[in-house]
Amino acid sequence: MKSFFSNKPLFKIAAAAMLVLPLGNAVAQTQPDAKMNAFVSGLMKKMTVDEKIGQLNLVTSGMAITGSVTNNGVDNGIAKGQIGGIFGLYGVENVRKAQDLAVKNSRLHIPLIFGLDVIHGHRTIFPIPLGMSATWDLDIIQRSAHVAAKEATAEGLNWVFSPMVDIARDARWGRISEGSGEDPWLGGKIAGAMVKGYQGTSLKNADAVMACVKHFALYGGAEAGREYNTVDMSRLQMYQDYLPPYKAAVDAGAGSIMSSFNTVDGIPSTGNKWLLTDLLRKQWGFKGFVVSDYTSLSEMSNHGLGDLPQVSALALKAGLDMDMVAEGFLNTLKKSLQQGKVTQAEIDLACRRVLEAKYKLGLFDNPYKSLNAENEKKDVFTEENRKVARLAAEHSFVLLKNANQILPLKKSGGTIAVVGPLADNKRDMLGTWVIAGEWEKSVSVLEGIKHVVGDNVKLVYAKGANITDDAEFMKRLNFGPGMVSLDSRPPGDMIEEAVKAAKKADIVVAVVGESQSMSGESSSRSDIDVPESQKNMLKALAKLGKPMVIVVFNGRPLTLTWENENAAAILDVWAPGTEAGNAIAEVLFGNYNPAGKLTTTFPRTVGQIPIYYNHKNTGRPYTDGPTKFKSNYLDISNDPLFPFGYGLSYTSFGYSDVKLSKTNLKGAETLTATVTVTNKGAYAGEEVVQLYISDPVASISRSVKELKGFNKVNLQAGEAKEVSFTITPEQLKFYNSQLKYDWEPGEFIIRIGTNSADTHSAKVKWQK
Ligand code: BGC
Repeated sequence: MKSFFSNKPLFKIAAAAMLVLPLGNAVAQTQPDAKMNAFVSGLMKKMTVDEKIGQLNLVTSGMAITGSVTNNGVDNGIAKGQIGGIFGLYGVENVRKAQDLAVKNSRLHIPLIFGLDVIHGHRTIFPIPLGMSATWDLDIIQRSAHVAAKEATAEGLNWVFSPMVDIARDARWGRISEGSGEDPWLGGKIAGAMVKGYQGTSLKNADAVMACVKHFALYGGAEAGREYNTVDMSRLQMYQDYLPPYKAAVDAGAGSIMSSFNTVDGIPSTGNKWLLTDLLRKQWGFKGFVVSDYTSLSEMSNHGLGDLPQVSALALKAGLDMDMVAEGFLNTLKKSLQQGKVTQAEIDLACRRVLEAKYKLGLFDNPYKSLNAENEKKDVFTEENRKVARLAAEHSFVLLKNANQILPLKKSGGTIAVVGPLADNKRDMLGTWVIAGEWEKSVSVLEGIKHVVGDNVKLVYAKGANITDDAEFMKRLNFGPGMVSLDSRPPGDMIEEAVKAAKKADIVVAVVGESQSMSGESSSRSDIDVPESQKNMLKALAKLGKPMVIVVFNGRPLTLTWENENAAAILDVWAPGTEAGNAIAEVLFGNYNPAGKLTTTFPRTVGQIPIYYNHKNTGRPYTDGPTKFKSNYLDISNDPLFPFGYGLSYTSFGYSDVKLSKTNLKGAETLTATVTVTNKGAYAGEEVVQLYISDPVASISRSVKELKGFNKVNLQAGEAKEVSFTITPEQLKFYNSQLKYDWEPGEFIIRIGTNSADTHSAKVKWQK
């Protein structure tokens, strides 16, 4: 057995090639290519075909490995050079053991890459991505990714399966919780901020992880919002509405991309050459590597593309570099090579890209780069990280209703009944995908309220309802042990207890909604109401006629029509993460004035889905209500319950008319559009001022409006500020029927306002 240390020359070459990288953008693209190429070529000359194929194999150690390192199969595989990377393994000691096997026991001592689903924080959990997007705060989003990177590297990781940038217009799809909502432009900005937060100024930094943009592509377009379902859409729609965030992440320098489970134009993404090579590499210039999603390679057989050898060859030729878990590459590529079904050059190219990723991460300089037991102790779940998580959570909440200024609540005097299955609950605070998150350490809503009011307000608590009383549903939610626990008391007794508590109180705070496993992967729902057990409790409470504040947890838009009619206030808190209870209490009692805005449209009923603000006009546009022979429903308005961009504050903001610097422009001139925003209420507050542009006459039917900018401003009570947007022809561009990205001269409507449905507008003519 050779040791890593007796083979230093290999690593010396890499050390000599280290360069200081420029800041920011395009980290992966601006590597010292020549030196990297020479190093990788030198290494590949020594590699056998088996070893090259081994680099293309990504295995998992199992979701919950925090104890023993890996199973025997994996240990042997590493030593034989049959494994390029592991995911699901973390902790300095665990990672070191596995890395030891690779660099000490394998013939060429090639280090492994260690990945994990770090989605919204590693140990310190941030709001779910849909909640993060509701902050409309790119700085907080980037910081959250940086904190996650710091914690992840402190536990030996160098690769995260994030950001998830899939556009979603269908709230039935459980994974809408993992992305940034429905808007391609905002989605792109957030994708870029996440990549920068993860990768930092150089992937070689000790606290940088390589991002993995997923799921490429169009995964959020699953028919009927049903998980893993077929996606079929026009190229025009892809380019205009679904692809921009992936491209923005590539432009920001993301080092890797994960292919999706679905088909694109009838071919599974994982084996789709147009997608993985023509679009991604040739059109967009992506230089990193592509990994499949979990067994999406072998699932190509179920899609009807052939047996494992066939789909593996297809995927390699299409541009897939690494196979997650399916072992299709590992077990079939050599034979396919012998049979002439794949070429040596194709295997070499994939292997080169995986090795390049390791090189860019500095793993050849030091395979143990981030394995430092000290950092593991000092950088993880720190007070400082929790502060950022709390800040993010506070900024992510969206105030949906606040009749008679019932919020904020008074910090002293009176009695508050805190009821509902999510009130005294730690587990569901975290939301989906929290592999290393320790829910026991999260702050419940009840605890948070106690921290803020101490003994100054009397609190009475009752659980009031189970998350659900439906035993079958419950089984599906409990895919991990103890995820949802059922109170054995009859539902009527629990409701009675909540009613009793409420009778003693001046105000009811009902904490309800979705539990952790009700959104995320494989969590599609056909009914997106607050579950019946909880709704029954709310109905009983509403009968008391006491003011009711609903704090709603949700991994997706819920149909809150009844709640909107019956509650005095609704605060949407998504799944806020570790600091949930503290952040919620800060907002409920007015220590922080909520400013979050929806990034996804909330329907009135599931029958309106898919519903999104940037729709087309149709030939028979809807006007003011259901009318015969218009594009609408007989039984309900087309308008959503809460539109994209919507969110209230404890204060209110007035908007002036839009002032334009010019009304006739030519060519590359720039336009300045300005509004004065006035804080008309008694509280200081932040407002996300939104810019939309409409292009009413064009060569194709355009969206009624598209978000093109925003500006988050802070205003003291009574203060007014001018908010200006600079508009260039770049913001007027769209994909025409030939998929050419350009703008067409004519009239444009510039809209500025507080949400997508409430704007002031002005018209401008722009000639070429
Ligand atoms: C999910 C991915 C995830 C992967 C690895 C898949 O089932 O679709 O988002 O990164 O598993 O855990």
